[in-house]
Amino acid sequence: MIIKERTQVGIVGAGPAGLLLSHLLALGGVESVVIETKTRDYCEARQRAGMLESTTVELLREVGLGKRLDAEGLEHDGIYLQFDGERHHLDFRELTGGRWITIYAQTEIVKDVIKARLDAGAAPEFGVTGTEVGELDSSRPVLRYTDAAGLRHALRCDVIAGCDGFHGICRASIPEGGLRVATERCYPFGWLGILAQAPPSTDQVIYARHEDGFALHSMRTPEIGRLYLQVPADEDIARWPDDRIWRELDRRLAVPGWELRTGPVLEKGVTSMRSFVAAPMRYGRLFLAGDAAHIVPPTGAKGLNLAVADVAALATALIRLVRDGSAELADAYSDYCLQRIWRATHLACWMTAMLHVVPGQDEFESALQRAQLRNLVTSRAAATMLAENYTGYAPLGYDPDTRLSPTALWPWVA
Ligand code: FAD
Ligand code: DHB
Repeated sequence: MIIKERTQVGIVGAGPAGLLLSHLLALGGVESVVIETKTRDYCEARQRAGMLESTTVELLREVGLGKRLDAEGLEHDGIYLQFDGERHHLDFRELTGGRWITIYAQTEIVKDVIKARLDAGAAPEFGVTGTEVGELDSSRPVLRYTDAAGLRHALRCDVIAGCDGFHGICRASIPEGGLRVATERCYPFGWLGILAQAPPSTDQVIYARHEDGFALHSMRTPEIGRLYLQVPADEDIARWPDDRIWRELDRRLAVPGWELRTGPVLEKGVTSMRSFVAAPMRYGRLFLAGDAAHIVPPTGAKGLNLAVADVAALATALIRLVRDGSAELADAYSDYCLQRIWRATHLACWMTAMLHVVPGQDEFESALQRAQLRNLVTSRAAATMLAENYTGYAPLGYDPDTRLSPTALWPWVA
């Protein structure tokens, strides 16, 4: 038996993009259903990003998701850049006239939004299988899935939002020719990340270029550190017992007079790195958002922030489309988001190229990396460019009650 149902927006994926979209739509009076293959526990425990732009923080506060973020998030003025055994502080707040960054883990954002959806009586459907999307170029696309109890559903929607990450099915369901651009670049290295029961040895995040590879010292709470090491792309984690990880972090992050505090490793894993942009982020009544449409290498911490920016715009556009019958913003959605996405993609690729050392790279390449880093710590103009891009771009443009045109609401749409 197939259960036939109806909703305004069918959302595939309960990562940050899908969950937040559902919350933002509800604030504008639009109903949605979120489906997710994994369990709630899995989604709430999946270790990923942790660095929020000030624009992301401002949006989360504005939509009622700022309480725990404000109580537990760690607000930072800037970052440290390290190379040639020297550590330099860049004060983003001072350089940008007030913008900052906040450490608050993606797991915590996911928990906060799931709780908000449950409190609103709109629980996501976890543990589904057999997700399919169809009739995308009709005015009533269909989302099919089997729920955790084994019942098959056919959900008629006004719109489907593909928020199902890089490996999801939504982008792959777009017929050939539907995506005009799909650009991919892979890197010969990845990041080995650990979560450790070790108080951070730094007050702000350290990005370090070392001759043996990149290292990053971040954190989650005053008791828990989050640290990363550049490793070969398909590195086997079994080759990295905890004491080897700490030794290597200690070597790559060392500066005179500084000590790395160590502790039990709670979790570890290797993440591959790629750049990818699919465009347009729409086919008929299917809209893509977050990692389903684009991936950046993690240097610069843009992935989660881009996902939030996409759904702030998408929610505004879909509220206008579904509630008011106006397609203007929905038609501008992809172009609007792609401008931010390409700027962030450039920042992430540039920071990745400047800070990672590929085995056997020639002296010319190394000298260029050092010259860029030296420029950043000696030129206010260069440092300001990094500070502006790192802390976020224009405000996120979520406005459920807007009557403005795309160019008035989102001034940077051509
Ligand atoms: P996701 O978080 O991937 O959510 C997509 C959801 O869709 C998932 O829950 C998935 O289970 C679900 N799904 C998939 N297929 C289906 C289907 N067929 N049916 C139903 N549901 C489905 N960014 C940073 O800025 N810094 C970092 O340090 C960092 N580390 C990362 C580490 C890893 C291992 C990964 C994969 C990403 C990392 N990122 C990082 C990127 C950042 O976490 C992502 O940009 C962010 O998760 C994007 O959110 P999203 O909701 O678009 O996608
Ligand atoms: C973190 C991740 C990043 O990719 C980054 O550039 C900075 C911090 C983090 O996980 O805290």
